[in-house]
Amino acid sequence: MSIVYDFKENIKKDDLDGISNIINSGGLVVFPTETVYGIGADATNSNAVKKIFIAKGRPQDNPLIVHISNLEMLDKYTCGINSIEKKLIDNFWPGPLTIIVKSKNNLSTYVTAGLDTVGVRMPDNDIALNIIEASKRPIAAPSANISGKPSGTNLSDIFEELNNKVDVFVDGGNTNIGIESTVVKVENGVVNILRPGKISLEDIKNIGLNVKLDKHIFKDVKDGEKVESPGMKHRHYAPSTKAILVDFDSDKIMLDKIKEYKEKNDKNIGIICYKEHEEYLKSIGFKTIVMGGKNDLLEISRNIFSLIRSIDKYKFDECLIEGVKKQYIGTAIMNRLIRACGYNIL
Ligand code: TXA
Ligand code: MG
Repeated sequence: MSIVYDFKENIKKDDLDGISNIINSGGLVVFPTETVYGIGADATNSNAVKKIFIAKGRPQDNPLIVHISNLEMLDKYTCGINSIEKKLIDNFWPGPLTIIVKSKNNLSTYVTAGLDTVGVRMPDNDIALNIIEASKRPIAAPSANISGKPSGTNLSDIFEELNNKVDVFVDGGNTNIGIESTVVKVENGVVNILRPGKISLEDIKNIGLNVKLDKHIFKDVKDGEKVESPGMKHRHYAPSTKAILVDFDSDKIMLDKIKEYKEKNDKNIGIICYKEHEEYLKSIGFKTIVMGGKNDLLEISRNIFSLIRSIDKYKFDECLIEGVKKQYIGTAIMNRLIRACGYNIL
């Protein structure tokens, strides 16, 4: 059994020493961040980093994010930042923003999957920051989940799939944001969003920078097509049950289309829906799972991965998922939902 440390109420100094010893001796630690849980290892130790790929069943071509707790670490492991990257860091760190920059080649090559760049972020979570500080080294950490499954946002969702594959789990309760960090790369003066997250296109525009969404945010990658981020190629977040995204701007059209679909398909169909739609959808025969209030995108983002993970246990023939507006963190929620639905859209 892996060890579990409970840091929900406070960070225990003795346990923190134990955790940093494990990191420094090449072990794996599952820890919370403000976005999702990560599986962390010393980013400078290839043997340790290799274990992350094995524990997750992660394709070796998919590089890991390096977590730092101070800007000296950024200097030590990267070739420096330009004025646009500095502005992003000044505004959004510590926080849910990963910046892809040139690496100095003093990290394990498994972290960067052989690329000359590295994704770096400073998480906004005291447990994560304390673990990095106590270990005195950068921590490589992908999301804590078996590859292909939704990222873990609480320990009970991921305990079984990662138990015995890591040395320690650190319990920090439910994560605050619930979906992974925004990943950006600055190219030709423009901030390109490779993976949307809580720090949105609108947030980056608001600090006066030129910003765009990568063309693959809502599109599948064709075989052989070149992508800016290896993670875009891999299958993500999907339950075993067939899931279908319901994507309409108007609520009225959305509910009419859902009703029509139910009438045409005589099956056991579940739906992940807004709180406001629950009663109506129940009345027309759906088993409903509530994602949150329609206008509370942060509540939806906090809940969504755990709900997607729960779909299979209901044994539906199919599960519909109501979409949200593609603005602010809604863009990130839709990016995850489209993938969870394997690009099936109603
Ligand atoms: O919120 C998060 O970012 C969480 C927590 C634990 O910090 N971490 C996370 O890591 O989501 P992971 O490994 O599941 O996702 C990292 C993403 C992948 O899509 C990967 O392809 C991309 O970042 N990435 C990492 N390094 C890159 C690089 N050098 N160039 C392009 N994309 C990169
Ligand atoms: Mg992941």
